[in-house]
Amino acid sequence: MKQKWSRRKFIEIGSKSIVFGVATLIFSKWLPFAKAKIPDVKKKTIVVPIPNKVLVAYESQFGSTAEVAEVIGQVLSEGGSHVCIKKMKDVTDLDGYSRVVIGSAIQYDKWMPEARKFVMTHQKALAQIDVSCFLVCLVLSKGTAKSIKKSKGYALKISELVPSVPADSIGQFAGVLDYSKMSFGQRLAAKAMFAIIGVKEGDYRDWKAIRDWAGGLF
Ligand SMILES: Cc1cc2nc3c(=O)[nH]c(=O)nc-3n(C[C@H](O)[C@H](O)[C@H](O)COP(=O)(O)O)c2cc1C
Repeated sequence: MKQKWSRRKFIEIGSKSIVFGVATLIFSKWLPFAKAKIPDVKKKTIVVPIPNKVLVAYESQFGSTAEVAEVIGQVLSEGGSHVCIKKMKDVTDLDGYSRVVIGSAIQYDKWMPEARKFVMTHQKALAQIDVSCFLVCLVLSKGTAKSIKKSKGYALKISELVPSVPADSIGQFAGVLDYSKMSFGQRLAAKAMFAIIGVKEGDYRDWKAIRDWAGGLF
């Protein structure tokens, strides 16, 4: 009797051990197939663009381009888009955006360095979504054929930087010259520079042109 009970107990303990052992093997990382089933959430995360989610990313030193970006964002928002307006340094990634509008003031015949850096940093993401660009400058304040040609040259340079955006689609807007916003040194340099170009202090922004351009983005 005693011997029978021991054998049953032995079988019971033995079978439990086998079941436990197999279960441990299946759920442990020792088995390669068990390991393969653990999803690598980090690597497989894909952020799907949300239709009509638009980022207006701008670079501005004295605020006039920031205000242009605000108005562009407002027009897009009125058109039904979900709009975020951010200074470029505050943009960490472009996840979820279906369109990005990139704009900067022109300094020394180019977009500001931060804008060029933004394009390089987000090059991959920008290739996947709709991109539009704009520039704000002072040569356009003159409205002559020569100054329009100069501004077109700025647009061409931007198009080389962002090849998916044709130069003639780039918004080109006249900006602001306000010496009161500049430091003493900046004011001296700017006065000399704009005296040569022949631009006087003033706000040359054409809000209708800016609104029309933004309204034509969709
Ligand atoms: C240092 C400096 C350089 C500039 N260089 C140019 C230029 O090469 N061509 C031009 O058309 N405007 C030039 N501008 C004019 C600016 O593009 C214009 O004032 C713009 O409205 C400034 O934008 P913000 O207020 O957003 O900084 C320059 C302005 C500054 C302060």
